[in-house]
Amino acid sequence: MGRRGDWGTRSHSPIRPFTILERRRRVRILFVGDIVGKPGRQAAARLLPGLTEEFSPDFVIANGENAAGGMGITKDTASQIFGAGVDAVTLGNHVWAKKEVYPYLNEEPRLVRPANYPAGVPGRGSAVFRTAGGDSIGVICLCGRVFMDCLENPFTIADALIETLAPESDVILVDFHAEATSEKTAFGWYVDGRVGAVIGTHTHVQTADERILPGGTAYITDVGMTGPADSVIGVKKEIILSRFLTLMPSKFEVADGDGFLSAVVLDLDSSTGKATGIERVRRTMSPSGGE
Ligand code: FE2
Repeated sequence: MGRRGDWGTRSHSPIRPFTILERRRRVRILFVGDIVGKPGRQAAARLLPGLTEEFSPDFVIANGENAAGGMGITKDTASQIFGAGVDAVTLGNHVWAKKEVYPYLNEEPRLVRPANYPAGVPGRGSAVFRTAGGDSIGVICLCGRVFMDCLENPFTIADALIETLAPESDVILVDFHAEATSEKTAFGWYVDGRVGAVIGTHTHVQTADERILPGGTAYITDVGMTGPADSVIGVKKEIILSRFLTLMPSKFEVADGDGFLSAVVLDLDSSTGKATGIERVRRTMSPSGGE
């Protein structure tokens, strides 16, 4: 744990100290994977300060669509995530799970839901944020459609959003919230060179395929979850085992116990919008709170 991740197949520099000129152009984003329930929120709160000290990100994004009881997000759980040091929260297919959040989706500009729902639903599917250093970060959230609800086509919606955001964004990041590795991989290739990063979320298991695609887009199929360690992708393992053994329906409950945090650190060049580094991160809470 804590070992620097492997680097992609393209030749690029690892995370390292930057020269003054590079520092002016570099935007470093820490993207934290799906925060699941209370163990996930606690892991984010306890582990993010150390990661911030270690990597000095300019901006922190987290996927929070499982933050409230494993399904959806509320104003209170979103506030806890922002309080942990997260600057923007992306969502996913469980965005509508908690009805009380609907007005908050309109009120809170730091929440970004999937953009490919029909027009007129609450919230925003993309947003542009500004770092303390003055760089602008366009954030797009999209849901995949394979083995998921049939939303509008994320590929063509991405075309329109990239065109809209590009003039006002130094870098653009897409949270592609999807089930199928094939759809995620295809999406990465589709937008390669047009966005700085495509970060896969939703499947909760970190994949080891992070790389920079030939056009300059940092890509990972799934960043992994931030949630309870002894679980089946966040849910109590006894419940899931019972379902596999009996095929009978049962209510999902978030597992108890210590959580772990999954993330990627991205370095992007604000003068080109392209990535120069991507590194997988995974930190586990021990009873003493360390790794
Ligand atoms: Fe999801």
